[in-house]
Amino acid sequence: VIDDLPGSSGRLDVLIRSVRAALLTSHGVRKDADIFLIVGRGERAPRTIRINGETAKFLRPDERSTAILIQKTLANRADDDVEGFAELRHGIAIAHGDLTALLPSFQGRPLCVLSETAPDVRSVALPPDTVIVLGDHEGFDDSTLDLLRARGAIFVSLGPTSLHTEDAVTVMNNELDRRAL
Ligand SMILES: C[S@@+](CC[C@H](N)C(=O)[O-])C[C@H]1O[C@@H](n2cnc3c(N)ncnc32)[C@H](O)[C@@H]1O
Repeated sequence: VIDDLPGSSGRLDVLIRSVRAALLTSHGVRKDADIFLIVGRGERAPRTIRINGETAKFLRPDERSTAILIQKTLANRADDDVEGFAELRHGIAIAHGDLTALLPSFQGRPLCVLSETAPDVRSVALPPDTVIVLGDHEGFDDSTLDLLRARGAIFVSLGPTSLHTEDAVTVMNNELDRRAL
């Protein structure tokens, strides 16, 4: 889950690069991964885009094609007529709402928030179905942190250096890849 917070400058580029980092490997797609992009700005914000690694077609490593995919998805209004996610095409869905609306769909799954000041991820056990939550270029606002704490999220750090969101996704995927060996 990548949170592009309401009130931020709407850095869609951060979300776009995070799609590649979350779902694409050198020669393929992470079929066991979904990414949720919370778009906090725009005409009908907040909205959440879900991309499923197993079923999404035409995911490519270049930012341009992902940007077009995200723009087309945001231009679609199918979510006006449904409760929850509207499936637009293979593996791509959109819903009205932000993290508050999204969290119930993770019922029963642990949440892990990436935060520079938290204990090191390498000292923390993570169940396989853990949902990883990252902030955008401005991090998290206080109300989002309160929401995550109330949900019992654990907070972990990837090391002492603050990274760009998409780089934090890559490092976290590497951490999870190593645990799966
Ligand atoms: C560019 S950073 C946010 C920086 C923001 N100025 C702040 O102080 O929170 C974007 C996101 O990547 C994740 N992140 C970046 N570096 C990290 C690190 N060393 N450990 C854990 N998470 C990190 C966090 O989720 C963070 O909210």
